[in-house]
Amino acid sequence: MNFLRELPRTGPDTAAGNMLRQYWHPLCLSEDLRDIPYAVRMLGEDLVAFRCGDGGIGLVGAICPHRCTSLEYGQVRDRGLQCSYHGWMFDRRGHCIDMPLEPIDTPLRDEIRHIWYPVEEWAGVVWCYMGSDKADPPALPKIDILARTDGGLVLSRGDVRAYSYLNFMENFADIGHSYVLHLLAPGTVPEEIKPYCDMTVDTDWRHADFRVFETDFGLKSVVVHNTADPDLKYVNSWSLALPTHFRFGGIIAGLPPDFTNDRREGGGMLRIIDDTHFEIFRYTLIRPGNFRSNFFPRVSNTARGLDDGIRGTVEKKEYDNRKYPAWEGVPPVEDLVIQEMQGAIPPRENEHLASSDAGVALYRRLLRKSMADVAAGGRAKPVPTNKDGIVEVDTFKGLAHIDDIVLGPENMPSSEEGRGLIRDDQGDLVFA
Ligand code: FES
Ligand SMILES: [Fe+2]
Repeated sequence: MNFLRELPRTGPDTAAGNMLRQYWHPLCLSEDLRDIPYAVRMLGEDLVAFRCGDGGIGLVGAICPHRCTSLEYGQVRDRGLQCSYHGWMFDRRGHCIDMPLEPIDTPLRDEIRHIWYPVEEWAGVVWCYMGSDKADPPALPKIDILARTDGGLVLSRGDVRAYSYLNFMENFADIGHSYVLHLLAPGTVPEEIKPYCDMTVDTDWRHADFRVFETDFGLKSVVVHNTADPDLKYVNSWSLALPTHFRFGGIIAGLPPDFTNDRREGGGMLRIIDDTHFEIFRYTLIRPGNFRSNFFPRVSNTARGLDDGIRGTVEKKEYDNRKYPAWEGVPPVEDLVIQEMQGAIPPRENEHLASSDAGVALYRRLLRKSMADVAAGGRAKPVPTNKDGIVEVDTFKGLAHIDDIVLGPENMPSSEEGRGLIRDDQGDLVFA
């Protein structure tokens, strides 16, 4: 098996697709399911979700097993979804429970078993499990940020891309790119923010300590920068939780060295549509602190970052006929352009990985092992949860005292409790 060729596959009966089917995935938002069926393509399968009259949610194959019309146009009933053509009705486990044009005792009704998958509704999101053990699925791992109550959570969706989800995830396993790609059009730090910033942070990648670690939830990239004070370091870490959660944080993202206690933990998860399409669900937890500025919005409902016609901040040149002209200056736009231009399924065997690609290499090793384990009848790398069923993903971005930094899978400091070095109202550094 050519691993790099197999890895982007998501469909049923593929090694990578079988691996993905051992995880729960976001399907849609709770609010998407009202009183009509909701068509959704997941992992290369066309499905229809519906909320029954009793409130329970079903997820079944989109094509009616009778004569192939789409159940997207079916009728939602109290106990299931009824095809509008001849009335075959399916419950949430794919049993046919009515065939109004057949004799009341037809054996055909018990013979038909339609495609179905279990779903769970939690934190405003509907999740699905498409593994072969779907009749007895593992518990839904609850991603920590959606359970947090110590800030305002913004959850957005609808950003659909036409290339492999791996282009996105590998970009996130590659923290080094942010030191080049996202500094193409560097904004100068506004005067009002400078008092909150340590302008002595050495942001040169070659002077920093870059590490990647396998963690219980997936992997973590950490970059430690020097400051003018030998006892103070600036830590930038990103975390990736399997299968498709990405997280950066914890103090205001986007600005280099800052130490306010305004926290803005960003991240998201992907809905994998098929080999060459995915949708981004972004989540951002915003906790206003002592940072008295309107420079950053306290709460934003436009977290997609791509609402302004997919444009950067630089001026468009009249001779720029590229698909994305004037694209530099907005990190989500920069990421979109770079990921899309790699190709829908890039020829990865032509790559030349280098030292800064340690995260990409580790991510592929994790997936390769899980694919092999699943193919051999085992399990994909599990994502452990705490006693409340929560997946704890810690990230940190900010200044830290050298004694508080422990480089490793459990690296400290952590944004777990929203702590970090900040300036208090007197302008002194405190850990809070
Ligand atoms: S096609 Fe669905 S009931 Fe006939
Ligand atoms: Fe990026």
